[in-house]
Amino acid sequence: MPGQFQLSVDHLIKEVKEARDLGIPAVLLFDIPSKKDDSARGAYAKDGLMQKAVSALKKRVSDILVITNVCLCEHTRHGHCGIIRNLSKGETSTAFIDNDLTVDILAKVALSHAEAGADMVAPSGMMDGQVGAIRKVLDGARFMDTAIMAYSAKYASGLYGPFRQAAQSAPQSGDRSSYQMDIANSNEALREVELDIQEGADIVMVKPALTSLDIIYRVKQKFNIPLAAYNVSGEYSLVKAAAQCGWVDESKIIWEILRVIKRAGADIIITYYAKEIAAQLNRK
Ligand code: PBG
Ligand code: ZN
Repeated sequence: MPGQFQLSVDHLIKEVKEARDLGIPAVLLFDIPSKKDDSARGAYAKDGLMQKAVSALKKRVSDILVITNVCLCEHTRHGHCGIIRNLSKGETSTAFIDNDLTVDILAKVALSHAEAGADMVAPSGMMDGQVGAIRKVLDGARFMDTAIMAYSAKYASGLYGPFRQAAQSAPQSGDRSSYQMDIANSNEALREVELDIQEGADIVMVKPALTSLDIIYRVKQKFNIPLAAYNVSGEYSLVKAAAQCGWVDESKIIWEILRVIKRAGADIIITYYAKEIAAQLNRK
């Protein structure tokens, strides 16, 4: 993925300080452990990478919100967002992920992030009931003020390709279409958002952004809740690649894309262009 890097904790601190100094209000962290394990124990280990990174950040950098991605795909060797069920002999099923077991683990992961000091957790696995389970566990441990940004309407998209390369989280077999949404379906996105709000989400997210502008618009019209749009790795890389070929004016295109996402109704935009945009805003 062009211009994006995996960072060690010391480099992360430098990077987040820079972001803060540019006026960026929040960072979203993804952890890429050196050892993968199909039961994803490392994802909620007290001395895990995310836990270490978050507590270091909270100690060393002030005035920026720390949000953690809560999912298993960076932790499992098979690269799926949940625990894979043992299918009995001869059984074929598209529901090969054990949803409820995964949700229990995601709640542990979220709690371990909160204990490390995360301001907000962002469950991205599209497991049914994940937001409610996380809210319950956080509240039970007196983390009432730890917020949840739910990846509510997440489509099964080819635009996540560069991210999966960068995060080493591509599924080793099959795809994510049993838990992420079918791009041909729009009403399902509204149902997913509604469920996450009922389960206690503080912010709902739609993803990818550019291929879901209709969804962003409809969610904004229908629900009174902060709405985030994720301008994902493929959207970013398409622009980068065309700019490198000299085919488009990168700065012009970035502004156009971000304005249109905002025009559709997003209150928050998650983008790999954040530093570039913030620097330009500061010069104005
Ligand atoms: C996985 C996850 C994905 C992204 C963030 N967390 C997508 C996926 O691999 O299915 C995508 C981010 C991007 O493409 O920028 N839970
Ligand atoms: Zn995942």
